[in-house]
Amino acid sequence: MKRRTFLKSTTQAGVAAGIGVFAIGCNETQKNDEKTKKPMVKPGEIAICTWGFSKANETAGLALQNGKNALDAVIDGVSVEEENLKNTTVGKGGAPDREGRVTLDACVMAPNGNAGAVVCVENITNVARLARKVMEETPHVMLAGEGAEQFAYTQGFKKENLMTEASQEAYQEWLKEKEYKPIINIENHDTIGMLTLDKNGDIAGACTTSGLAYKMMGRVGDSPIIGSGLYVDNEVGGAAGTGLGEEIMKKVGSFLIVELMRNGMSPQQACEAAVMRTVKTAKNLSDFQIAYIAINKAGETGSFSLQQGFAMMEYRNGTNTRKEAAFHLKTE
Ligand code: GLY
Repeated sequence: MKRRTFLKSTTQAGVAAGIGVFAIGCNETQKNDEKTKKPMVKPGEIAICTWGFSKANETAGLALQNGKNALDAVIDGVSVEEENLKNTTVGKGGAPDREGRVTLDACVMAPNGNAGAVVCVENITNVARLARKVMEETPHVMLAGEGAEQFAYTQGFKKENLMTEASQEAYQEWLKEKEYKPIINIENHDTIGMLTLDKNGDIAGACTTSGLAYKMMGRVGDSPIIGSGLYVDNEVGGAAGTGLGEEIMKKVGSFLIVELMRNGMSPQQACEAAVMRTVKTAKNLSDFQIAYIAINKAGETGSFSLQQGFAMMEYRNGTNTRKEAAFHLKTE
């Protein structure tokens, strides 16, 4: 199938599926209401995240079901991956830069429009939690490098060596060739971006990553940049991005998606439109991956990626489901 044709069919299918599910959901709820005279179920207690981070997403979903608010739940969720030593793209165990330093980036957004971020932080595992501290305990939105690390210690975070035996071994192996390709393997589990909708209908988000493996020292991607890796507007919805941060930043992708939803697009349509902005201008499309997830106030969700191979986790009604995303380029 030609690429254009493929996109058209997936787009229509994706939108049709999204509308269909929502319409069926409404009709069923109405029928149930008539039978039981109970009030309509409000959308809520939904968590979505990038890639197959099942445990992280379930943790957030369960936290919502147990009455936690959207912000508390999203931090609980992404912390699972930050602490997962086997994850080489987030938190402790994340791949280092070319000099062998593990530097982490993260941001959070709260339903009240507040935001916090940290970039290029060493020796701290839970950087999303640290970003929240920046948001709540400082007059700033973003702290970088040593300043962020020192602030973490004042807030009770402990100093940890983020390099594991496995990441040290992989780094030593990389040093032999020192080959640097700023390409994110489309099979690789990259950044975790997560969005939560709580029972009050409030939306929060978090995004956390170690960024590109063997990046240049000081390189920062999209993940901690408000509007690029993450954006939440509690009146409209939220979006998160993953993949090659340089391409997401150039389009301020997550902000774009929320604005498109504000203007009437569904989360699915908005994610597709954001990927297509990159398709219009980027070179060597087959060499990198970008993907987005989004949720709106009605609890509708969407996801779309440049390349085949991206999936979103969705926790809804107590069930955690992996949803393969529609995409633009089929893997040859
Ligand atoms: N999306 C993660 C990064 O580019 O750093």
